[in-house]
Amino acid sequence: MPIPNGFLGEKDLNKTEEKYELSCLICESCGLAQLSNIVNPDLMFKNYVYIPSMSRVMMENFNNLSYQIYNNFNLNQDSLVVDIGSNDGSLLSFFKNYRTRVLGIDPAENLAKIAELKGIPTEIKFFDLKNAKLIRNKHGQADVITATNVVAHIDNLHDFFKGISCLLKDDGVLITEFPYFVELVRGNEFDTIYHEHLSYFSLKPWLKLIKSHGFEVLRTQKSPIHGGSIRIIQKKQKEKSENPNSKNIVNHMAFPEEEHNIYNRDTLSDFARKVGSLKIELTTLLKNLKRKRKKIVGYGAAAKGNVLTNYFNIGPEILDYIVDSTPYKQGLFTPGKHIPIYAENRLTIDRPDYVLILAWNFAEEIIKKEMTFRKLGGKFIIPIPKLKVV
Ligand code: TMP
Repeated sequence: MPIPNGFLGEKDLNKTEEKYELSCLICESCGLAQLSNIVNPDLMFKNYVYIPSMSRVMMENFNNLSYQIYNNFNLNQDSLVVDIGSNDGSLLSFFKNYRTRVLGIDPAENLAKIAELKGIPTEIKFFDLKNAKLIRNKHGQADVITATNVVAHIDNLHDFFKGISCLLKDDGVLITEFPYFVELVRGNEFDTIYHEHLSYFSLKPWLKLIKSHGFEVLRTQKSPIHGGSIRIIQKKQKEKSENPNSKNIVNHMAFPEEEHNIYNRDTLSDFARKVGSLKIELTTLLKNLKRKRKKIVGYGAAAKGNVLTNYFNIGPEILDYIVDSTPYKQGLFTPGKHIPIYAENRLTIDRPDYVLILAWNFAEEIIKKEMTFRKLGGKFIIPIPKLKVV
């Protein structure tokens, strides 16, 4: 599989594309699912094309998160909120309303520039213990550290947590949000497994990890982001004794993992089988439509879409093009399958018969936005969690 955000310019189309192994393993002891192979992070994250501010749902999620943090943790104008994996400053920009101090940390130079333009100071760095020490010396310790959609990208999780311990005040809070492995398996979200995501967390391994670094859970919350995520609010454990409330929260939350037998080999084999069936169902549908001379395009040049099109062997002979709202992606071609990417308004001009929603996690938002297309007889194909045409 090519790296899923490795979009190509026209001049690169004839060059050989690097392909990397992509397979996911699960630890039978702690339950953590991880990739077997790690691609050099510089290749994937230095010039990053994914920006959450392209989605209204993502921005609402960040707005709510900032409100929740500000109101629950007695922040004031001296408080420092640090966001790890701060991208274009989308989350931190909401803290401007509350006038707290903010600091972003992200290795993507292109996105840090955008964040700085929005007035979000950003350290262009990967987050690890060494950099955490440098940042603490320069900016002081944080009252709140947020890490949304980033822990899955981290190779050395223990070093990452040592960095958090170093940068966070003793009475500070750490808020993490990541796609939930239970939802991945339940919802057939196989295409969210790709090189950028090294780990696929459920609660059992997460708790083991945070406990080993002296953290305990204050609260957990489910969110619909990226096909089903969990937000976990945690703090440094004060004494040796564990907060009994924390245990209750954990027991309650761990229930879906047991209920869905997520650590059972049969469950995981069944998941793999379902992916195989979806491949047959979807490609048969698309080929039949093509035979009837229907025009089909894709919506959302998401990394997950690139996994799906490559794995299911869906190329430009089926999808004429993909529309995407991200300016960086427009004019480029998808990795592997070389499907051209255009701005969303091409849909209105071109009026294809079918639109395959590759960014299926935003299906509702996209369908609402493209109401006219539907009113004029256009149809959407949503591949995941279950193939449907609406
Ligand atoms: P993601 O699933 O990795 O978040 O990527 C979603 C992609 O879909 C991203 O490239 C932006 C694109 N997108 C649109 O083009 N239009 C939209 O309305 C939404 C919500 C996303």
